[in-house]
Amino acid sequence: MNTFNLTRLLCCLATASMLFFAQAASSENAISGSVYNIIPIPANIQPGKGTFTLTEQGAKVYVQGASAAFSNYIQQSALKCKVTKKRSDANIAIVVGSKASKKIATEGYFLTISPKRIDVVASTEQGAFYAIQTLLQMTQMGELRTIDCCTVADEPRFPYRGLHFDVSRHFFSKEFLIKQIDAMALLKLNRMHLHLTDGAGWRLQIDRYPRLTSFAAWRPAKTWQEWTKCETKYCDQNDPDAHGGFYTKDDIREVLAYAESRHITVIPEIEMPGHSEEAVAAYPEVSCDGTGKGGDFCPGKEATFQFLENILSEVIDLFPSHYIHIGGDEAGKGAWKTCPDCQRRMKEEGLNSLDELQSYLIRRIEKFVNSKGRDIIGWDEILEGGLAPNATVMSWRGTSGGIKAIKAGHDVVMTPGELYLDHTQDAPFKEPMSIGGYGSLQVTYDFNPVDPSITQQELKHLLGVQANLWTEYVPTPEHAEYMYYPRTFAVAETGWSRAEDKNYEKFRPRAVELCNILQKLGYNTFDLSNEYGNRRESLQPVQHLAKGCKVTYQQPFSKAWPSHGATTLTDGELGGWTYADHKWQGLLKDLDVVIDLGKLQPVHYVGATFMHLPGPGVYVPRSMQVEVSADGKNYESIGTLWNDIDDKIPDLLFKTFSLTCNRQARYVRVHAVNGKEFIFVDEIIVN
Ligand code: ACM
Ligand code: ZN
Repeated sequence: MNTFNLTRLLCCLATASMLFFAQAASSENAISGSVYNIIPIPANIQPGKGTFTLTEQGAKVYVQGASAAFSNYIQQSALKCKVTKKRSDANIAIVVGSKASKKIATEGYFLTISPKRIDVVASTEQGAFYAIQTLLQMTQMGELRTIDCCTVADEPRFPYRGLHFDVSRHFFSKEFLIKQIDAMALLKLNRMHLHLTDGAGWRLQIDRYPRLTSFAAWRPAKTWQEWTKCETKYCDQNDPDAHGGFYTKDDIREVLAYAESRHITVIPEIEMPGHSEEAVAAYPEVSCDGTGKGGDFCPGKEATFQFLENILSEVIDLFPSHYIHIGGDEAGKGAWKTCPDCQRRMKEEGLNSLDELQSYLIRRIEKFVNSKGRDIIGWDEILEGGLAPNATVMSWRGTSGGIKAIKAGHDVVMTPGELYLDHTQDAPFKEPMSIGGYGSLQVTYDFNPVDPSITQQELKHLLGVQANLWTEYVPTPEHAEYMYYPRTFAVAETGWSRAEDKNYEKFRPRAVELCNILQKLGYNTFDLSNEYGNRRESLQPVQHLAKGCKVTYQQPFSKAWPSHGATTLTDGELGGWTYADHKWQGLLKDLDVVIDLGKLQPVHYVGATFMHLPGPGVYVPRSMQVEVSADGKNYESIGTLWNDIDDKIPDLLFKTFSLTCNRQARYVRVHAVNGKEFIFVDEIIVN
């Protein structure tokens, strides 16, 4: 974390902070040319008097202490500036690494815009680069030539601000990556995580293993969805029906150079030991049974370690990133149980479980990566069976793995479901097919990476946040951009801006504006101004007779999806588009409950809504019966209703079962018969 003391620096500005905040508040609605319109919102802003105008010919910029590449970047940027060697000629002065900048954090900057000139002070070129990004956003990429005067003292909240690209499920060109680097830079993101290998295709040239790119990078189906239905998994590059692709080392060098000039580190991910179907298909000798079937490498064979280390050596030679991502998630481990090599390894190494066998592989790979002067980062499954000593954890299954790793003294990047951009960002009926439920801009924005259990001391291990886009259902670059923006803006603000400045209501109009800017630049963003939002029923609590009443379960609800436990079905909260919103309760058995209304009273209506989403196994119950009773012993049935939704319909649907009656009752029993896997229900409404 940064040590730069912004408060001290601001004191030097000699303006009373009360006045500052009063003025700041009044300037928040400025329409354009204002620092209040940018994302991520800077740490400290002090409004000034008047405006600064960039002439159409541009400003003259004096640069001190930065590279020629930096000067070049400014000259070619939308600010349309010309670099001058004479400070007295310049109306923009950028000074890097001077004595005055010593207290500024590595990525921080100090920007003063006055009517006659702009001054940027930073301790590093990266900080100065971010000041330029602030100016680019203030001018709406050079469109507005007049901007409000102000002073900005800015620095990031977290050092790691990442965006993830799954180029395996669908291959995206190097030009696509380069285009996204520009958007990332504008948002002050600094880590590009490339998921280069997975079952759907290997995407990186490895000289020693040419079949990874002549075979494992190609498949006889264009989209991931079509591919999962076809039997031939991979094909030769020269097959007339081959789809896929890979990056040559020269492609990667081009991406790396572009990223470096925008202060973005590219982190390569080579998946192991799971999600490796394509690699074992190309080189079956590293699979358990030697046939190349299954998705896991064999940790029992020495050949596997030679293979992985040879690959990692080439990866390390190519990518300067300190972190090498080794995956680690969702290994099936099934073949390990019966593989003689795996079993021998477990015996020899005293490993008591398959998790420990996985940990053996990860630790050994870590040793190798460390020997090359680099560190590993991996998905939170690397905690299972014992975490490798120097590993950094990417917490994706919620934040609990990350918190555990932090408490054990490891560095962590938080990337839980709220930051998964493959989730649907708006009402499913208007959005393309996707997985993972509903993850609106607000869901992404409201994620707080700092759990209250993390102490001030431990906070240094929380490196930051990352948004992930898995591309199983994202076959084109246009679709990928649609999923990235604007939700990436939200992650950028979480990673950069101060926690106390986060406010969704204030962020949203800035996001609409930045979407417009990106659209003008040729990015296919989601249309935020046409957002439908969450399921209408979920927006307001519902009043009914059973609200707050005790519910007794004849069959338990699922431990994985309890929502708020036994109070869920009478809490007055209706569910949204996703069963993961803590308003829906999941049941693997029948829903069979009795509600105690507290006293005998007239009952005219009993209803419950169920979710239908076959992808993850969520189905409407086969039937629902309602019974009522005055004494809790003798029940009278008031009817049974039957499901009429076809199980095969893949879309998200909702089915309400409701019955009307005219009875005096204290107890209401609802029995919904589970015909398949999960039932999800949000409320039982009685009136
Ligand atoms: C993951 O989403 N399997 C890391
Ligand atoms: Zn094995």
